[in-house]
Amino acid sequence: MKPPLVIAVDGPAASGKGTLAKRLAAHYGLPVLDTGLLYRAVGQKMRDENRDLDDGAMAGDIASRFDAAWLDDPRLRERKAGEAASRVASVPSVRLALRQFQQDFARQPGGAVLDGRDIGTVIAPFAPVKLWIDADVAVRANRRYRELVSRGEDVTEAVILADLVARDARDAPNMAIAPDAIRIDTSAMDVEAVFASALGAIKGRAA
Ligand code: C5P
Repeated sequence: MKPPLVIAVDGPAASGKGTLAKRLAAHYGLPVLDTGLLYRAVGQKMRDENRDLDDGAMAGDIASRFDAAWLDDPRLRERKAGEAASRVASVPSVRLALRQFQQDFARQPGGAVLDGRDIGTVIAPFAPVKLWIDADVAVRANRRYRELVSRGEDVTEAVILADLVARDARDAPNMAIAPDAIRIDTSAMDVEAVFASALGAIKGRAA
């Protein structure tokens, strides 16, 4: 019997990994988890409770009470939630508290797609398919800028670029490229090309 298809899609913010993960999940009929939402949910709770985002103990305490219902909050897609997420995500107790939920998702009997930063290395190192999706930071900033503007946020591209540079630096300790990951640089690719490239790579590995 074939092992379940588990696809780990990792990479920096706005690299296109979320879009790709959703496309792959639809293609293979698999459930998909955007793991960034878990960190955003903890960050958002910190904001809602007026906590200092640098209070790691409090962030760990909130993460230990994590409830999947928190993921339905539409505010999690906003820029401020992303910023708060990257602050709390550097706290080891937060990462540990959110681990089991992600691992249970990855271990579903029928397989799963997860996108994040450490899926292929920490959450699901057993995944038969690991993708590392990256793009030039200026390209990522332009994509994120357009996405946020289409959601009605009042931002400039320069501010988003600065956000991403800071975010990359903060996320670096928890972003690791698995040695067996297939790397795709999406800087000069559109969504369709990224999907086709990933499918080709996956066919070579697993499906
Ligand atoms: O991917 P997204 O932008 O939603 O992630 C928000 C933040 O959550 C990231 O900047 C990162 O700090 C954190 N994160 C993480 N590990 C993951 C997913 C997200 O540390 N697996």
